[in-house]
Amino acid sequence: MFQRLLLRYYRVVASVYLYNEYRGYTELERLLAAVKHKFPEEAAFIEAVEKHTEDERKHYRMFKHYFEANGINPLAVEWSSGYVDRFVKLIFRKKLDELDTGAIIENDKLFFKLCRLVMMTEFRGMKQIDGLLRSSLIRRNSELLRIFRIVERDEPSHCYPYQQWLQSRGSHEPGLRERLTDLWVHYSLILLKFPVLFLNPFQPRLERFPA
Ligand SMILES: [Fe+2]
Ligand SMILES: [Fe+2]
Repeated sequence: MFQRLLLRYYRVVASVYLYNEYRGYTELERLLAAVKHKFPEEAAFIEAVEKHTEDERKHYRMFKHYFEANGINPLAVEWSSGYVDRFVKLIFRKKLDELDTGAIIENDKLFFKLCRLVMMTEFRGMKQIDGLLRSSLIRRNSELLRIFRIVERDEPSHCYPYQQWLQSRGSHEPGLRERLTDLWVHYSLILLKFPVLFLNPFQPRLERFPA
């Protein structure tokens, strides 16, 4: 019984990560294209966003491989279990797919907002990984542990370029509303969404990987 619950737990954690990494790198691909177009001379920043995009794509592939190697289907996770989806929805009042990155980058205020959002997502991701690596349940699963260690190693390089961008242009760090939104999204995922995915026996499975 415990073993079954444990496997379910791993499946939920890996499914939520699979979804979030996918949403992350596909959104970053759009951001990267917009940055290259608007700031072609900012080589260091472009390189940082490029590396960030590649890392998130790699994370997605690691989780995909985890499912394939173990012959299990991920759970179909909807946008309401996506950290970035919900963060964008609350901050920009738009669905992630409808976010017009090309238009945002044309407006300093909006672009700063987007940089803060990406930066906060990464800080949240670092805290999350820290907790998972200390979890005795995760430590029993050598494959997931290996994946999370790679994610942990990659994470710090992700948030700082956006933070530097903001600092070098005199923009402020995240404000109260943004910090509260981050907390709300995080805790509602952990306390509301995650238990539903874990407990719902009818949660649909993902029929095929998005990429
Ligand atoms: Fe990631
Ligand atoms: Fe990241």
